[in-house]
Amino acid sequence: MIIKGVKARIIMDSRKNPAIEVILNTSNGIYRASAPSGASTGKFEIRAYPKAGINVAVDYLNNLKKFKNYHVNDFNDFRKIEKFFNPSMGGNVIIAFEFALLKSLAKGKIWKFFNPRPKQLPLPVGNVVGGGAHLIPKNKLDIQEYLLIPHTATFKEAVKINNDLYRLIGKKLKTKRKTDEGAWAPENISDLEAFDIIISVMKDYSEKQGVDVHLGIDLASSQLYNKRRYSYDNFSPSQKKKDFIKKDQIALINDWINRYHLAYIEDPLEEQDFSGYKNLDHSALLVGDDLIVTDIRRLKKSFVNAVIIKPNQIGSLVKTKEIVDYCLKKNIVPIISHRSGETLDATISQLAVAWKIPFIKCGINGKEREAKLKEILRIEKEIKRD
Ligand code: PGA
Ligand code: ZN
Repeated sequence: MIIKGVKARIIMDSRKNPAIEVILNTSNGIYRASAPSGASTGKFEIRAYPKAGINVAVDYLNNLKKFKNYHVNDFNDFRKIEKFFNPSMGGNVIIAFEFALLKSLAKGKIWKFFNPRPKQLPLPVGNVVGGGAHLIPKNKLDIQEYLLIPHTATFKEAVKINNDLYRLIGKKLKTKRKTDEGAWAPENISDLEAFDIIISVMKDYSEKQGVDVHLGIDLASSQLYNKRRYSYDNFSPSQKKKDFIKKDQIALINDWINRYHLAYIEDPLEEQDFSGYKNLDHSALLVGDDLIVTDIRRLKKSFVNAVIIKPNQIGSLVKTKEIVDYCLKKNIVPIISHRSGETLDATISQLAVAWKIPFIKCGINGKEREAKLKEILRIEKEIKRD
């Protein structure tokens, strides 16, 4: 395949913030892709855009002459291509470029390019209730995301379950407000009350429908951590403020895993605490997001059993594939993930199928989230037809 032309421009993401879109004109046709942005970003992830702003990255790519008539044969060529980019331009320019390049190379079907006959599709991890850094002005929840994880034979069934529960939980909470990721953002309930409400709706629904849905949370706990303490502002009705030192935070998480049957807990400890995970209950997925930032070197020194995969945290699709392959070899569960500021780009859905990633965290509600779910539904249909 030959790259004939490269264009970059600014589009608006789901938060109405500018995001970079790359349009590639190639011998396989014209393909476009864009990159998302986070709000509860990890301290160790690379920056999305140059310090001087997104326009600098857009101009940089529009003036980069290296790719004119450049030949790309397979994914191995991406290693060389990544070296062309000035790292100070940020991760998003590379990721948007590489997403568009992969789409061009695969003629729009990245999943098929890597995995022509998928035996299994990922399951969705859906954000149903939340707060924390994903809401301005804030509500009272300390827990950033309460997550639904249906275990079903098909992706279609899983999407239906998440949609049903999203609607039922919204009704019960009587709230109209939503977080950046489209989750319900109740104003006046505490962290523990939210657990009780979600679990009671899940239980009722699962019994009636005979389905298997698991509960998870993203605590994004670096956001709660200050001066060696995890501080909760709205823990329970009787104890609003709560402070935990590391040892007590670990005991709390283990208690929650047991009490609420949590199958998944993301960033339960702050982003520099590698050793604390040794004392957490490994019967749940202990998921590193801000702790690992999609960096294989951080994963290797951690004790997590699952990891969030966000390509723009590491700013390299080659390194993203490396960490996914490493996880699959070592029985660590990779979970490919959206960001809180999303675009309509659905490359992560394609990559989930392409690279045999068992879970995709991409929200339940809102057009940017639905675009990712629909992409997998389309793939599921196509596979069934074959
Ligand atoms: P983000 O984080 O706001 O950085 O995208 C979402 C998350 O913590 O998973
Ligand atoms: Zn997270």
